[in-house]
Amino acid sequence: MKLSINIDHVATLRNARGGMDPDPVAAAAICESAGAQGIVVHLREDRRHITDRDVRILRQTVSSKLDLEMAASEEILLIALDVMPEMVTLVPEKREELTTEGGLDVIGHSTQLAAAIERLHGKNILVSLFVDPVAEQIEASENIGADMVELHTGAYANAREDNEVRQLLYAVRESAKHGKRLGLGVNAGHGLNYRNVRAIAEIAEIDELSIGHAIMSRAIFAGLDRAVKEMAALVMR
Ligand code: PXP
Repeated sequence: MKLSINIDHVATLRNARGGMDPDPVAAAAICESAGAQGIVVHLREDRRHITDRDVRILRQTVSSKLDLEMAASEEILLIALDVMPEMVTLVPEKREELTTEGGLDVIGHSTQLAAAIERLHGKNILVSLFVDPVAEQIEASENIGADMVELHTGAYANAREDNEVRQLLYAVRESAKHGKRLGLGVNAGHGLNYRNVRAIAEIAEIDELSIGHAIMSRAIFAGLDRAVKEMAALVMR
């Protein structure tokens, strides 16, 4: 299983003071040298953390894989088509949310999403759709030509009762199998941390995890290099 690291919150900290430090570009280089197999940034429409400057420089400096997480809006789509990351992860985006709250409604937005996928494929950019672990959404993703799905692990990560944790883990596992049966790449992410990642890392059908907040939180105390290596040791196989 591969580990991609979301570095948005390095930019959140930088933007708190409006200067240059800490620079997400430097963070990406440290993550890669510590073993990350991809760098993820979410260019939000409100630019609350990652900026256009970050994406453009990262395109030149990231040597593993750049995954641009984004809404399928015209403005951001034009940037993606110009910057040409290896991969785009399409997510729903609401201005008032703290972080991406739910998966895409692929069934309800199939026309718009299919058009975005076609344009991105025109530039050889792989497309992943961030979906809840629900069979119908995974099937709809395959129907409209997505290369991969990223299964939303937020509900699993937030669950506290053992029974609920088990049920939500089951949903992620079954969804991963279903995605693979349909020929999709299967990634997962959101809310994963050093404790809850183990059970997800045991799901053989998941190709890659996308993890941000927990690694950046640990990095404040332990350093980024160590925080990445500790997570990589739990995830990679
Ligand atoms: N995957 C997607 C689609 C996300 O929106 C996020 C949050 O930016 C992540 C993964 C990473 O989540 P976390 O920061 O909770 O690890």
